[in-house]
Amino acid sequence: MILVTGGAGFIGSNFVLDWLAQCDEPVINLDALTYAGNLENLASLQGDPRHIFVKGNIGDFDLVAKLLTDYKLRAVVNFAAESHVDRSIHGPEDFIQTNIVGTFHLLEALRARWGSLEGEAKAAFRFLHVSTDEVYGSLEKDDPAFAETHRYEPNSPYSASKAASDHLVRAYHHTYGLPVLTTNCSNNYGPYHFPEKLIPLVMLNALAGKPLPIYGDGQQIRDWLYVKDHCSAIRCVLEAGRVGEVYNIGGWNEKPNLEVVHTLCAILDELRPRADGKPYKEQITYVKDRPGHDRRYAIDAGKIERELGWKPAETFESGIRKTVRWYLDNQAWVQNVASGAYLNWVGKNYGERQ
Ligand code: NAD
Ligand code: DAU
Repeated sequence: MILVTGGAGFIGSNFVLDWLAQCDEPVINLDALTYAGNLENLASLQGDPRHIFVKGNIGDFDLVAKLLTDYKLRAVVNFAAESHVDRSIHGPEDFIQTNIVGTFHLLEALRARWGSLEGEAKAAFRFLHVSTDEVYGSLEKDDPAFAETHRYEPNSPYSASKAASDHLVRAYHHTYGLPVLTTNCSNNYGPYHFPEKLIPLVMLNALAGKPLPIYGDGQQIRDWLYVKDHCSAIRCVLEAGRVGEVYNIGGWNEKPNLEVVHTLCAILDELRPRADGKPYKEQITYVKDRPGHDRRYAIDAGKIERELGWKPAETFESGIRKTVRWYLDNQAWVQNVASGAYLNWVGKNYGERQ
């Protein structure tokens, strides 16, 4: 059995769904169900004995230690984190608690359990830490893409907290021999993406006739990867990655934000035209920039391709079209997440950008 943490969030839930679609190895899913955790993402697994959901915190040493022992877990994939840059700017505390302190307690539980194993179980045990390209900082227009050897230069409280967690993971391998793997991935998009992030936010606002907020000049570049490609890369690294190594994961899809938003508008014009016949791009509105906004991210995914033979299956064009269709076909999910606390966040983040 494996333990997945944060498996009710965007990427974690896609990972659990894909894992169980491809094999019968059961998953223990540990998630604190913060605002970003949503059991509706896992509704299709209701009654499936291969999925055991546990509400809890990665920072709860006793709970994690018990799960590791009771279920004789062979691997842990750590998605649990606070993940939104803008929220980290408004309030960094939760990011420090979960991403740094939480990861530390998780590592302590893993160290205790792994230390008690012997023989084949010990040799085969793995801890895969899911991290981000944001730890490498920001690139200039003509800089080469981030390789695994790029120095760490995190710029936001979010990326600094993820960088700290990466360093702890590295240290637990170097010092205690814990069999770790770290992946640093670029921007994901796809089903179950919480609408605080650019792509789902733009889709929701477009359909609701609201402004499509572009921070600053909209020329910041992100390297987009369809979430199911991220999941396949993680499975690949978990299965065949070299212990102690870092693997960068990306889609070779660098796009300025404005281009991404124009693409979304054009697909919506085609699939769900506005009642007044006007193009959705008329809703684009420039708003105050994100403080310390990183200009460009780009991932060199050459190592994972050379060593493990992984490549993304989707282009940006195919993935974004699937994503738009998913949001149009899953309006009940959208309506449920876009209520309550979500509206408070929208008021807080965008109210002060006018
Ligand atoms: P998300 O915010 O959608 O989900 C995070 C999940 O973790 C939620 O279900 C939440 O309830 C849970 N969680 C938060 N704190 C917890 C705690 N203390 N204990 C247990 N569970 C907790 O995030 P995501 O976008 O799915 O990202 C998952 C991971 O991938 C994160 O580590 C993030 O840094 C990393 N990552 C994300 C992206 C991206 O584009 N979204 C890209 C690269 C890496
Ligand atoms: O690069 C990987 C990272 O990608 C992950 O580690 C993070 O968890 C994930 O949230 C994402 O971070 P970004 O800050 O790049 O994603 P976000 O969707 O918030 O923003 C994407 C770009 O769009 C960024 O340049 C900011 C801009 N933006 C975002 C929002 C929400 C806007 O212009 N308007 C908006 O309303």
